[in-house]
Amino acid sequence: MPYCVGLQSAANAFLSAGFATQFTLSVVIFLVVVLVTSSLQTNEADAPTSLPCYSLFTILPFFRRRYDFLNWGFHATGQSVFQFQLLRNTVVAVSGESARQAFFNAKGLDLTEGFKILSGAIPMVRGVTSNLETRRIAIIHKRLAAVQRNAPLNDLIPLILDDSRRIMETWGPSGKFDPFDSIYALLFQTTLRSLSCSEISDDPAIVGRLKTLYDKLDHGTTPATVLVPWLPTPAMIKKLWATKEIYQIVCGAIRAREQSGISRNDTLQMLLDSGDEKLVVVGFIMGLLIAGARATGTTASWMMTFLGGHPEWRAKAAAEVESLLLAANPDTKLSSSSSSESLSSQLSTIPLEVWESETPVLDAIIKETTRVAQPHTAMRRNLGPPVYIDGKMIPTGAYVVYPFSDVHLDPSIYPDPWAFNPGRAEVKHTPFAYVGWGGGKTLCLGTRLAKLELKLIAAMFVLGFRQLSVIDKDGNPTSPQPNWNDILLCRPPPEKTGYLSYERSDVPL
Ligand code: HEM
Repeated sequence: MPYCVGLQSAANAFLSAGFATQFTLSVVIFLVVVLVTSSLQTNEADAPTSLPCYSLFTILPFFRRRYDFLNWGFHATGQSVFQFQLLRNTVVAVSGESARQAFFNAKGLDLTEGFKILSGAIPMVRGVTSNLETRRIAIIHKRLAAVQRNAPLNDLIPLILDDSRRIMETWGPSGKFDPFDSIYALLFQTTLRSLSCSEISDDPAIVGRLKTLYDKLDHGTTPATVLVPWLPTPAMIKKLWATKEIYQIVCGAIRAREQSGISRNDTLQMLLDSGDEKLVVVGFIMGLLIAGARATGTTASWMMTFLGGHPEWRAKAAAEVESLLLAANPDTKLSSSSSSESLSSQLSTIPLEVWESETPVLDAIIKETTRVAQPHTAMRRNLGPPVYIDGKMIPTGAYVVYPFSDVHLDPSIYPDPWAFNPGRAEVKHTPFAYVGWGGGKTLCLGTRLAKLELKLIAAMFVLGFRQLSVIDKDGNPTSPQPNWNDILLCRPPPEKTGYLSYERSDVPL
């Protein structure tokens, strides 16, 4: 009530005042209103600095030379946070310790939405792998957790080892291969085994066809297919065609299982028994396969390259696995060097919990590989209210990216950052110093499976082969450096390819 009385008398005073007073007061009120409302809108000082170039020139470098492009952006703007446009999308790139923390902890930043527009490598089937409702994504994640419970994961051990044996036998008694072809293909097989069904993974012709189709999707990803996916470019049409064929293969396997009436012990059976709708089953296999097979394939290719070039770590890994073999078979004295039993069946006697908790050397090798050779740029879309990172505003709807190179290749955190050294001390002085499996509220949901696959394959490799070395195309020793501009495989350019030269050891695979 006193306020009403006050306002009433102020209004009376204003009306009875002379024109000059009324005019002056009106101008003052107008200026105050403008000042207040403009401070509520985007404040120029809050906006991240923009790149000093036309927005059209950011598209190709972002997709083709991302590592160089983002480094250049931080350098050219002199800022730890900068922004650029990808057509109509605003993208903010962030770096540094505090930005990293804010990025990984911010509530409104969404991975799925960020990935959808900025990555584009996932086959897009509306309602199956794209535009999935949150509810369906949640079911897929729940089923992925089910695949990685102790019992199914334990059951996968002999199958993964047997797949590895079969493929490694095709390499012959000695030779050389490009790990990004041979090891990648091996991980494609084992990931397919883990995430799909025997109808697919027991048939080398179908596995080969699927691999070709997924390669087509990866290599058919152009800026246009990502940013304007509705535009019927030749690349987009090829991608759609490949996606359709993958879809048909997966649906065919589901039909064959249902019609056979035979229940099998694999992931497809678990999905069908859970009573999930077909969209979830197909989405699970198609979507997770590309995410899982590519990440494990890249990591495994580099892990083998590093093991090939670092005899000391190869020897440590071999000694670790030998000791696990002996511990798992104390009576039979099973050991890779003194038994005629195949290496794969010997290794399958080591239980899951031992692979997971008693392999410090393999753990260190995997960690170092995912630090130095995982060219990931984390991508998010801000679905919540504006977020501030290092005092710069990320508006609602904008995209935010954080390149892992910012922390994993920072020489002040990891001295001599490009060197592969699994013996590095754990970095404790800075938060999120290692984000190889994600950080904060976004962690990899396939970690258990991926680590198991990597360990089993590494064990087969270090005990089943000897005389390993990494050579260039002329046979000279070389040590290739991860190429972070290759966002898929971190693969070095052809002239810098490192081939793995090998000889089989005496133990049968
Ligand atoms: C060496 C192998 C792998 C590595 C290094 C890896 C790494 C990562 C990283 C770093 C993230 C977080 C990404 C970000 O913050 O932007 C992530 C997320 C994810 N990963 Fe993996 N991953 C691997 C294998 C797998 C496999 C085999 C699967 C599935 C079978 C998988 C499923 C996922 C899923 C579903 C997410 C998204 C989680 C979410 O939406 O919150 N990953 N992975």
